[in-house]
Amino acid sequence: MRTEKNNIKLADKKIMGIVIEDFFVMLLDIFFYFVVAFIVLSIRPSFNEKLSLRTIMLQTCVGFVCLLLSRYACGVYKYSKTGDRITNIFRIIIADFAGLAVFYIAQHLLNYADRIEIVTQALVIILTMVLSVFVRWIQYYRYKKSIDLTDVIPFSPPDISELEVREVSNALKSGWITTGPRTKLLEKRLKSYLGSSGCVCLNSSTACLEMVLRLLEIGPEDEVITCAYTYTASASPIIHVGAKLVFVDCSKETGSIEMDYDALERAITPNTKAVIPIDLCGIPCDYDRIFEIVNKKKDIFIPNNDFQSAIGRVAVIADSAHALGASYKGRMIGSVADFTCFSFHAVKNFTTGEGGALTWNHIEGIDDDRIYKQLQLYSLHGQSKDALAKSGKGGWEYDIVGPWYKCNMTDIAAAIGLAQLERYSGMLKRRKEIIRKYDNELKPYGIEVLNHYSNERTASGHLYITRIPGISENDRNSIIAELGNRGISCNVHYKPLPMMTAYKKLGFAIADYPNAYEKYKNEITLPLYSTLSNESVSKILEKYIEVLREIGFIKNE
Ligand SMILES: Cc1ncc(COP(=O)(O)O)c(C=O)c1O
Repeated sequence: MRTEKNNIKLADKKIMGIVIEDFFVMLLDIFFYFVVAFIVLSIRPSFNEKLSLRTIMLQTCVGFVCLLLSRYACGVYKYSKTGDRITNIFRIIIADFAGLAVFYIAQHLLNYADRIEIVTQALVIILTMVLSVFVRWIQYYRYKKSIDLTDVIPFSPPDISELEVREVSNALKSGWITTGPRTKLLEKRLKSYLGSSGCVCLNSSTACLEMVLRLLEIGPEDEVITCAYTYTASASPIIHVGAKLVFVDCSKETGSIEMDYDALERAITPNTKAVIPIDLCGIPCDYDRIFEIVNKKKDIFIPNNDFQSAIGRVAVIADSAHALGASYKGRMIGSVADFTCFSFHAVKNFTTGEGGALTWNHIEGIDDDRIYKQLQLYSLHGQSKDALAKSGKGGWEYDIVGPWYKCNMTDIAAAIGLAQLERYSGMLKRRKEIIRKYDNELKPYGIEVLNHYSNERTASGHLYITRIPGISENDRNSIIAELGNRGISCNVHYKPLPMMTAYKKLGFAIADYPNAYEKYKNEITLPLYSTLSNESVSKILEKYIEVLREIGFIKNE
């Protein structure tokens, strides 16, 4: 395994390499300038009169000083080490034109003998500029290739563009950085994108899930069902509200990571108030089947309040942390379940750093505005006015209507979300392209993969899960370690919750969830993110197949 120390050494070496390379590039710039200046000044295309050697030397040196000063002033040499070489190319262009202007003014101010025409000097500077830009272009491509192919390919870095940077900067400069106009705008846009009846943005998907359970007043004596094969955030809010957590196993079917729907049906009792299906990897669950089950069990449902009575059956609260942008039978996830929770955590397709959104479908007899207002109260201390409303003229006074929670979204986070939403369709498209490439290469080797796109379900392409039939948990761990040595960061989704200490302490045992264990033991998740290049995808596939060949899973032809 590559140790932390080795990584630091590698990074130091890399930085040193960039510093040395940049120094040589600067020397190259100087060399270009002098060569171009001597050639152009000697030939002087537009004038016949020959210049003396002294004039050529003088003009070259004055021009050089002007050019170097303006390039330094524009940060051409200072910032080249950041690797942002495209910005540096623009810096060179601006600096060189500024240098030309300075040169022209300097000539007039100094008013020395043997001044040369501006056309000649412009030619010198433009030719030097072209050569400098050309070198930066080559450098840029070398850099891009080197980070792609020699560095470790990360598992899931965020896709943050200049647009997000600009939106956040605007939010910071706007004078309003906590929940305010940007959060409201993001809620409005998500609601219309998802076609839901309402949307509230909070600081995480976990908070969204807990707030729904609180909205429905689910608590002690109640039972909530979810799948054992998931992340803790699907289950912990059930514990937070004091309800009984009921796990069902996942389906035995190859290629499915959904809960075992027959087990779900068996698990529903008169105490069951909600079921939390999970759209793992961004692939929608079988919602028709889930609704069929909860409707079938309507007769034994005992509501405790008007929300529960209005729903009239076990509520379906989707954990769609992974599934923003996914759709089920032509309907966007977010408008399928009764309530849907999305995560905007840093590793998700769509990020606000930390954040989440909760959407709901209209419940007959309940005003959508009432749900929105109650969620606002729950997520902001039970305070009757938010900070924006309080900031109005004479609007200081507020009440605390309940000693509640604090999980609102900030406008800084919402600013990132607004930018992400503008770019989201392109990001989803890229994920789909990568999934297609992985599918085409891996399926022929007998590696099990999930079906992300079918006539009925379109995934958001959040995670690329693979399974190697027949291997043990130890083999799987060795493959992941070996891929790490070869520069590929992989992951496991998921270690079933009954295997985790907290859930073992609650009395759960993995022996009761054999399908979840089977899905876990040979699972390897490959990197998948919208900024992943085709070269990196090829490298991942090459290394994965190479390692599988070495352990004998793939036989040499
Ligand atoms: C399946 C699932 N549900 C819920 C969450 C919680 O999301 P958040 O971190 O936004 O609370 C996650 C986060 O990774 C998750 O994977």
